[in-house]
Amino acid sequence: MPIKVDSAARRAQACKAFMAQVHSTVAKEGITPSTLHALKLKLVALAKRSDLFPLADFAMPQAHGRSHPLLVEENDGHGLYLSISLPGKEAAPHDHGIWCANAAISGRERHVFYRRIDDGKKAGSAEIAKVGEVVIEPGTGMVMADHDIHSTVVIGDRPAVGLALYGYALARFPSVSWFHPEFTSVRATPSRRHAA
Ligand SMILES: [Fe+2]
Repeated sequence: MPIKVDSAARRAQACKAFMAQVHSTVAKEGITPSTLHALKLKLVALAKRSDLFPLADFAMPQAHGRSHPLLVEENDGHGLYLSISLPGKEAAPHDHGIWCANAAISGRERHVFYRRIDDGKKAGSAEIAKVGEVVIEPGTGMVMADHDIHSTVVIGDRPAVGLALYGYALARFPSVSWFHPEFTSVRATPSRRHAA
């Protein structure tokens, strides 16, 4: 008889192996555009193994979205999460202050990317311009450098479920900037870098 290994144990093993690959990739040349691209491809490959991520193992959000930790490293380590966003959930343009990669398991989410076009000299003020967009669906993903800017919206009538890899764990996130193009304003959330 085949040995039955439950999905949680297989998932933990796969996430550990993935994180080891992330570290060996980053150790070679640091965080560069090509490293980030490589991390995205590895995350897309992991997300394609949908048998590791049965929805029954993850509680649905009450509203909006929810991030389930898969492998969160100590201190200044990385964070790998399974995120679930309900249909219609949207996020205004923002950066994360740290690099991140997303890859879809199921559902579809549109990401619009922007760049800042003002000189950043006036406090609280910012102008951004759209530079592109992509729909993240199974088999695809995206990656952002520390100060890349995106907005997101779940499209279709199914939740968007995917993997998210962040340079720092969510609980130790740096300041995140939220842009409001209609007011040419920007507001930053407090950094959690010194949180426990
Ligand atoms: Fe984001």
